Amino acid sequence: MDKREIERIVRKEIVTGVFQIQDFLVVGNWKMNKTKKEVITFLDDIVNHDFGEKNTVVIAPPSAYLYLFEEKLRYSKILYGTQNFYPKDNGAFTGEFSIEMMRDFGCKYAIIGHSERRTIFYECDDFASKKILSCIQNQIKPILCVGENLEQRKHEDFKQFLVNQIKTAFSRIDKSDISKVIIAYEPIWAIGTGETATPDQVEEIHMFLRNFLVNEYGNDIGKEIPLLYGGSVKPANVKELALAQSVNGFLIGGASLSAQTFIEISDLLNGK
Ligand code: PGA
Repeated sequence: MDKREIERIVRKEIVTGVFQIQDFLVVGNWKMNKTKKEVITFLDDIVNHDFGEKNTVVIAPPSAYLYLFEEKLRYSKILYGTQNFYPKDNGAFTGEFSIEMMRDFGCKYAIIGHSERRTIFYECDDFASKKILSCIQNQIKPILCVGENLEQRKHEDFKQFLVNQIKTAFSRIDKSDISKVIIAYEPIWAIGTGETATPDQVEEIHMFLRNFLVNEYGNDIGKEIPLLYGGSVKPANVKELALAQSVNGFLIGGASLSAQTFIEISDLLNGK
């Protein structure tokens, strides 16, 4: 056996060992996809899969299908969440759903500030702060998405842009509730484009965000907040990305639409 082969085997052993102990949050964001029939097939395909004990698996389907998740995942450890809601308890808001309605269907998570909501539906950081507050008040875990576009990335201060997104989004909640928020770093240029940030780029930003969180909110809170990466995550790149420091999980769009691929990603993160 030559040196390279030995290196490859040792590395594989180490990676597998790391993944067997480190826990990850694996979130699928279906966006506006799937028919009722496809949702049923997907849920039937995953419901009996052993996702293991350590990782948390969450799917955010279109809200119209939440009743199927409630029905099919009743006895499952797979959790689910909403991609959207309106941050008011009730009232004259035609076409909207409250977070309490989402909770009624068993949602435990909510995606907030996704770049598609920001660019297509003009949701701003202040609106994200209202949604985060609603989540906290309703015992739903908010997943706050932050990320720069390609133009912003060209400028030195793009990291400050990410910091501002976080600070404003946290502005309505008590300091004691900050550790209940999950942050997903999703560089806009890597979403749905097939272009993934490299593990080095992800590590750089995650370490930067981790330092910011610790400096701004203290060690206890700053270290607690899970930092997810999102943007063209797939079975071929998830392991390398998972080895980057301060990556606590993934927000997965396209690759979460196939039960097989979603299972494959989850299995890889279990060291299988
Ligand atoms: P993608 O989407 O995995 O298809 O790039 C990620 C996201 O938008 O959350």
